[in-house]
Amino acid sequence: MLESSDIEKINRAAEILAKSKYAVVFTGAGISAESGIPTFRGEDGLWKKYDPEEVASIQGFRRNPRAFWEFSMELMKKTSAEPNPAHYAIAELEKMGIVKAVITQNIDMLHQRAGSRKVYELHGSIEKLKCLDCREEYTWEDFTDLIQNSEIPRCRVCGSWYVKPKVVLFGEPLPSTVLYQAIEESRRADAFLVVGSSLVVYPAAELPYIAKSNGAKMIIVNDECTIADSIFDVVIHGKAGVILPKIVEKVKEIRGSMS
Ligand code: OAD
Ligand code: ZN
Repeated sequence: MLESSDIEKINRAAEILAKSKYAVVFTGAGISAESGIPTFRGEDGLWKKYDPEEVASIQGFRRNPRAFWEFSMELMKKTSAEPNPAHYAIAELEKMGIVKAVITQNIDMLHQRAGSRKVYELHGSIEKLKCLDCREEYTWEDFTDLIQNSEIPRCRVCGSWYVKPKVVLFGEPLPSTVLYQAIEESRRADAFLVVGSSLVVYPAAELPYIAKSNGAKMIIVNDECTIADSIFDVVIHGKAGVILPKIVEKVKEIRGSMS
């Protein structure tokens, strides 16, 4: 059950979005938690079990691709994961003409599968892979059977073991065009909605500050407090899959009464 203070915050968030001309959404691992994908930080976070330096850095991958792949197999659960009501709520806000862009740190492609069309993937996605030695590119499907048998992909052209999904690992730069576009979208936003991110990984976590300093009204929906809560006008602590559909419901009500 939601408390009355939550309902009041949901109403305020809906009002900001309904009146906005250019709303931008920024998401992190927390939005996919209700789809069964583990987050990185927090109680059951992946970084409690794995050392990010070992399994999620470019140096770690170079040292030991197998450790990276073993970690990725756990994340692979995401290939069978489905979008949840939070992803669908954001896609619906885009269809209503309110949300103009989604910027995500996630690599799971669940926004697109829920129907969001303008998605900036700051950390890449698992859709494509590339051989670090001969640059040959592959799609996920090329290796699905192999990975399901817990085998490690190997380049079919040059035999290298360094076939890496085009996701951003620690120690690698973000794709510069995507980052540039995400900065532009954040500048342009008059409403900026953060969902499910601890806001500690840079440069991604810079984007809410860019939006704020350009005058956007700021909303965050996150299970726990973040270090950036103080820059937000509306802070809602709760499950994205519960809160976002309620915000959409209210936006529709407000829109209905405005027309
Ligand atoms: P984190 O795991 O750091 O943070 C996820 C946030 O989501 C936490 O603050 C949780 O409280 C919150 N959360 C969990 N379940 C939720 C739910 N059902 N509804 C709402 N909020 C929920 O994930 P990110 O901020 O995405 O980068 O992490 C940023 C980057 O760190 C990732 O992209 C990844 C990681 O290392 C790279 O690998 C380069
Ligand atoms: Zn190769």
